Amino acid sequence: EKDPVRVLVTGAAGQIGYAIVPMIARGVMLGLDQPVILHLLDIEPAAEALNGVKMELIDAAFPLLKGVVATTDVVEACKDVNIAIMVGGFPRKEGMERKDVMSKNVSIYKAQAAALEQHAAADCKVLVVANPANTNALVLKEFAPSIPEKNITCLTRLDHNRALGQILERLNAHVSDVKNVIIWGNHSSTQYPDVNHATVTTSSGGKLVRELVADDNWLNTDFIATVQQRGAAIIKARKLSSALSAASAACDHIRDWVLGTPKGTWVSMGVYSDGSYGIQPGLIYSFPVTCEKGQWSIVQGLKIDEFSRKKMDATANELIEEKSLAYSCLN
Ligand code: NAI
Repeated sequence: EKDPVRVLVTGAAGQIGYAIVPMIARGVMLGLDQPVILHLLDIEPAAEALNGVKMELIDAAFPLLKGVVATTDVVEACKDVNIAIMVGGFPRKEGMERKDVMSKNVSIYKAQAAALEQHAAADCKVLVVANPANTNALVLKEFAPSIPEKNITCLTRLDHNRALGQILERLNAHVSDVKNVIIWGNHSSTQYPDVNHATVTTSSGGKLVRELVADDNWLNTDFIATVQQRGAAIIKARKLSSALSAASAACDHIRDWVLGTPKGTWVSMGVYSDGSYGIQPGLIYSFPVTCEKGQWSIVQGLKIDEFSRKKMDATANELIEEKSLAYSCLN
């Protein structure tokens, strides 16, 4: 049997936490042959609820689950973890200024970066889910300089999956038949869902999504807006955020990162920009990536038309602005 992998989930008493821990314990994230030890972190006001989650994990008797550490102590939570799913954060409440929310999250991510840097396993892979996800990941990267940049990512896979979902519905196709959509940029309403390189497998071979949909107007307007606003639409419908699909997407993100993407297929991940596609280096920006042997690399050489260029730059500009807001909160 393999050695257990230690997986940290912060904000584990919250909604996404409650959805994701059973997925991890069932092998959805790391595979059906990979034992796990779950590290669950939340804050003091949620300590009792967190303990309830731990009780349920014990009661579920998951064969792959070799242990549960449930704690409000960030050092204990980070000790020797191999994977860190950062779901905990400070939500925007009615009437709060953007700067106040940013300031709360900057201080949370600065502190948790330090704990991960000192106590996590040397090769720890980090996925930031909590919003503002890209900028929280950026703060984490800045304050954990010994963790390689390549190990710090943020979640845009939910947006990627939402884009696939819209295309599937439109074409009445199957998940396994559509691939290579792209989410560029920020996990926010400025993100750019791009289908220019996406393909569908049909009985007469691979076809471009654009060709099959044959409605550029829909692809360039409603499709983009639907994906961008999907989070808000779910909150409106459920009166709660999209926890199930976010948890599932986080599992997809880690599974593909660790176990690799299928040949000829890419996925979207928020990663450290190296300047690819003219995106300012140092931002955490969502790119199309392939993964192999636990390493992601940005897909190179895709043709970018003028429509895409504008949208990619607009979302980059928002991230530059968020970055400076985050820095202004540090002073
Ligand atoms: P929630 O409010 O149900 O849970 C958040 C949990 O984090 C709470 O239990 C809270 O006590 C905890 N927490 C707060 N500060 C903490 C700290 N310093 N350390 C550890 N835990 C802390 O929220 P939910 O629905 O689970 O969402 C979590 C985050 O994920 C939110 O920021 C949300 O905006 C974001 N999100 C991101 C998505 C993405 O695609 N990137 C999709 C959906 C949600």
